[in-house]
Amino acid sequence: MPETVFILDFGAQYSQLIARRTRELGVYCEIVPYDTPWSTLSLRRPAALILSGGPASTMDDGAPEMDPEIVRSGVPILGICYGMQLVARDVGAELVKLDRAEYGPATLRTTDDDTPLFAGVPDESRVWMSHGDSVVKLPHGYRALGSTARCNIAAMGSAKKKIYGVQFHPEVVHTQHGRAILANFLHAIAGLSRDWQMDSFIERSIEEIRARVGGDKAICALSGGVDSAVAATLVARAIGEQLTCIFVDHGLLRDGEAEQVRNTFRDVLHLNVVAVDERKRFLRALEGVDDPERKRIIIGHEFINVFEREAAKIAGVKYLVQGTLYPDVIESKTPDSKAGHKIKSHHNVGGLPEKMGLTLIEPLRALFKDEVRELGRVLGLPQAIVQRQPFPGPGLAVRIIGDVTEDRLEIVRSADAIVRDEIDAARLEPHPWQYFAVLTPVKSVGVMGDGRTYANLVAVRAITSEDGMTADWARLPHDLLERISARIVNEVRGVNRVAYDITTKPPATVEWE
Ligand code: XMP
Repeated sequence: MPETVFILDFGAQYSQLIARRTRELGVYCEIVPYDTPWSTLSLRRPAALILSGGPASTMDDGAPEMDPEIVRSGVPILGICYGMQLVARDVGAELVKLDRAEYGPATLRTTDDDTPLFAGVPDESRVWMSHGDSVVKLPHGYRALGSTARCNIAAMGSAKKKIYGVQFHPEVVHTQHGRAILANFLHAIAGLSRDWQMDSFIERSIEEIRARVGGDKAICALSGGVDSAVAATLVARAIGEQLTCIFVDHGLLRDGEAEQVRNTFRDVLHLNVVAVDERKRFLRALEGVDDPERKRIIIGHEFINVFEREAAKIAGVKYLVQGTLYPDVIESKTPDSKAGHKIKSHHNVGGLPEKMGLTLIEPLRALFKDEVRELGRVLGLPQAIVQRQPFPGPGLAVRIIGDVTEDRLEIVRSADAIVRDEIDAARLEPHPWQYFAVLTPVKSVGVMGDGRTYANLVAVRAITSEDGMTADWARLPHDLLERISARIVNEVRGVNRVAYDITTKPPATVEWE
């Protein structure tokens, strides 16, 4: 294992962002619950610790605490926001509650020219604050390193103990020199090298997979998406012909995708692929179903049946490869986590391994999405697959509001191809995270040539997002929207009106169903 930084999660919305930034700096890190005891952490020999922010106040009863052994461990520590307050309190600083919390941008003035934490950071720079308490007095051995107009001690540290704290958020893009500050902590203070690289990750993974699988067989469901494609390619590098990929064409993919998956994996990457055409089966199962959750459940269920049937034809399979990513496995024990409401069941191949008695191989468990794309590139996957936007497991079925029929699939598929084509060609900066067409159940009156039409309304959705958890609607240029609209009504039979979805998530979700 590479040298590992652990991020103690105190319930910050930014914990994953801290982890991503750390990895971008070439340092491997993992997020762990805030109350992980030092006796457990020390077994993994942490190279440094970062304490995340969190919604609580250290002065509240029952505020989340970390094991007091942690500040005595001698491991370099960076506390961010709540993390700074906690570490400050634990080393004997004084804190007060502010009359008015400070949220948003502020100007940081560095007050210590010698601190390695701010090497290369100008005397004044913009930072992002979000706090209700403030450190007002530091114990012996600690120095104030920076201030803002409303916060006298906005950064603190002890070079000797290698313990630092920043009241602002270096991980967010709104903090101008946040990346440099994190890099200073990781490289200059904690002495970590940039050894988290894809090449060494690939080598290590291949060895591990070979050792685990031995002479046995594995299967993998290819969905057409990035994660399963990269997972399959990596495992195939390790065990070659012992891996069989199963591609179920459920007929709910986008234009040209099924062919692309078959061609790429079979002919370009020379993987062992079983492709089954089950388009009719899925259409039949979806007949007359318009409830979104039922659609999702039916598709998941049918998929598992087909996959099991195909897997049973391969003798002696012991392993199932899945493209699970790090954000899905982080067991962050956030201080006030409550059981969430189920908004929609995300169906991929959930529940398969238990049902089939197979052991899981999840070679991407430690990776974030952008790292998976990078890995795919290094493994030689084509750009079209590596750069693919996220696409729901139930496919176009959840982009057709109401009944899924062959005709309606054709409409949404053609409209979607136009949306993708135009937005890709526009080479927008920043590029939207996801963009697609939705077929609504609404019909409206129009006029084409000299005749009256009564045809379908297509909605276009384009969003910007970091992870799909929250999203903003993309401010597409009007001329681009105009081209998309004109092409859809002209080229897609059965559509006479186009609307653009300008809702954020929350309150809406990304997909309409
Ligand atoms: P929602 O609609 O929940 O979508 O805001 C968030 C992100 O997840 C994708 N999505 C899915 N991905 N299986 C998946 O693998 C699914 O069933 C599924 N449903 C939604 C969606 O496209 C967006 O990126």
